[in-house]
This record gives sequence, C-alpha cells and structure tokens, in this order.
Amino acid sequence: MAHQAAVEEASRTNIASGEFDLAFADRSYYTSQPLFEAEQDKVFARTWQFAGHASEVAEPGSFKRAKIAGQPLLVVRGEDGGIRAFFNTCRHRGAIVETRETGQCGGSFQCLYHHWRYDTLGQLRAVPMPDGYGDWFRREDYPLVQVPRCETFFGLIFVSLDPAAAPLEEFLGAMKPHLAKQYSTSGSPWEMLATYSYRFKANWKLFVENSVEGYHAPFLHHLAMRQLAGGFSIEGRALDLGIHGMIDWADTKENIEHDVRVQTHLLVFPNFLSLYHGERDVLAIRQVLPEAVGATTVRFYSLVRHDTPKEARDQVLSHFNLFWGPGGRNGADDALTMELMQEGLAAKVDAKVLVARGLDKSPVSDYYDEQPLRAFWRGWRKLMFSETNS
Ligand code: FES
Ligand SMILES: [Fe+2]
Repeated sequence: MAHQAAVEEASRTNIASGEFDLAFADRSYYTSQPLFEAEQDKVFARTWQFAGHASEVAEPGSFKRAKIAGQPLLVVRGEDGGIRAFFNTCRHRGAIVETRETGQCGGSFQCLYHHWRYDTLGQLRAVPMPDGYGDWFRREDYPLVQVPRCETFFGLIFVSLDPAAAPLEEFLGAMKPHLAKQYSTSGSPWEMLATYSYRFKANWKLFVENSVEGYHAPFLHHLAMRQLAGGFSIEGRALDLGIHGMIDWADTKENIEHDVRVQTHLLVFPNFLSLYHGERDVLAIRQVLPEAVGATTVRFYSLVRHDTPKEARDQVLSHFNLFWGPGGRNGADDALTMELMQEGLAAKVDAKVLVARGLDKSPVSDYYDEQPLRAFWRGWRKLMFSETNS
C-alpha cells in the first residue's frame, strides 16, 4: 500500500539520519543551570527574536522597549520612517536611556541621569556642559549602539544580536508561507490591540512545546473543550518545518482540502508562537521569555484588523482572555501543568522524556503527533551542541 510504503520510508529515513535521537529529551535540558546560561548566547543571541509589531511604532518617534537574551533594547520608528533597534543604554555612563515601555519620544530620547539626548536615528544630539570633555570629544562618535539586525515580515519586527545571522526570510524557511498567510490580509491590516504578561515556574521550553503539542488538548482541556459551543475539532495536522513547527486544526476534511484553516498554531524557532482562531478572526502572539532555568515570562499580544469596530474589539479581547488568558479556559490548565512538569523533571532518574509520537511518519502528520516538537529540538540541539557554535 502506498501509504504504508511512505510510512516505512519515513521511518527508515528518520532513524537512519539520527532523527531517532530526537525522540528522547534528557531531563537536564529543562533543569540544568549551565545549559540555561549557554542558551542565552547560543540560542537567543543567535536567532531572530520578535521585538514587536509595526503598528506599535506606527509614527516617527514611536518606540517600544524589548529584552532579548537579557539585554535591554529600544525599537524606534525614525524620523525617516524606518524601524530600527538600539541597545537601550546611554553612551555616557550606561543608564537605560528610555524608561517607559512604549510611547512617543517627540523627536528625541533624553537620558535621565545627565540629560544626554539622542535623536530617533540614534545620533547623540546634546551633551550638557560639553567643555568638560576637551577637544578630543566628538558627539558623532557616541551614538546609541544599533542592534546588528532588524527586519520586518508582514509587520512583525524581528531583531538578531548576531551580525552574521542569515536574512530573516531565509531563517523562516518553510515557515514563511504559513506566517505570511496568518498576517497577510486582503482587507484591513492587523494591528496590536492589547498585551499583557505572566510568569510561571517552569522552563521556557515546556511552554513552547505545549503550544504546538495537540495530544494533550482533548485530555488536559477536556472540561474546557466541552464548554466550547462548537465542540473541539479533532481533525488536523502537525507539521515539521525544519526547525519551526505548526499545528493546523480544521473542522472537516473538506476544510483541509480547501486549505481553510480554522485554527493554526505556529512556532517560529525558538520562542515565538502565533495562534490564529479562524472562527473569530483572532490572532494572538505568545513570546516565551526565559527568566531563570525554572522561571519564564510569557508575553501575550492580541491583534485585530485595523477596521474592527470598538464593540467587536471588546469581543476579541474577551475571547482572547477567556480562551488563552492565564485564567482562561486553556491557559490555567497549561500553566499548572508546566509547573508540575518542572517539579517532576527534577527527579534524578535515568529516564529521558519521550518526544516520539509520529516518529515513523512523514513531516506532515496528525495533529496529536509531535512533529513540531522534534523540529524545535533539531534546531535547539544544532545551536547548543554543534562544535561550530561553541
Ligand atoms: S548616563 Fe546617560 S547622561 Fe549620564
Ligand atoms: Fe493546552
């Protein structure tokens, strides 16, 4: 049978190419302090990291702060209309230059300590009492330091601390059409509606895995799923997109055939999740930000289309909170489980955890298989363990 042959072929390929290793994750990956510290340099400082949506810095002078690999950044729409990211640290004595989370700088940023002032292109424009520095001092030698890379994709702003990073679209690879599909629109463009964050006591990778792992949904969320008016769709696919991954749920086979996506969860490696609910036209971003080996902040963003009326915006917010919020139908179940997992994983037993569902299938499998998780681990292991990255 053709299907059986394909399964056997995928299985042989997976096992022969070392993919079989990806089916087992060492407990230390979630609990080791040295590995956590290495991740900051090898994973977060090397990959493209989400820094905001263009609608958050819509006008020249609009800014927002971000934190990547523990470093403070400032994302700014310049007077020339371009979006740039700077390290948010003063060239004088190093203070944070802009302390507000978001806002409009009115043309320049003034450091609160000694009032050095920078324009929206990062140039140092004013130094009080400059005579004290002598003739050698030239303002043009002290601009804000620009983050090496800053690129946008359908309004999503990504930055990389690695000057040698491949271009964003190359990094997105097989994820590109899926992300484009979520964020492109024939009508009104998406814009940021609201954001909030919460913290939980578990390793960041558990939350990433949870967001693209469909196996738990009908079990952990069985009560929540019963409350949903339309019930829970149990048809869908899980996709391995190289280092990125995706779950694509659909109500019916017809939907899949016609490429109508009811609900899609995308994981852009390593920590950017984009969730779309078609039935309500709700788009949400989860950015998973590690704080410590066993502590994580998740920043949620809710987006709506620009022409959404006020009343409908309120409904979107309500759906967003009731479904994904920390006290919502699914959020609470997941957060509690992540903490129980972290506690369980601390057991010093010689027993790796299994990431094996669907290993013998092709890169496209059923929604309850773990194709997206193994894609994540492929990317993580390459950055963490390959010799060229040491
Ligand atoms: S530290 Fe910023 S002006 Fe002195
Ligand atoms: Fe869940």
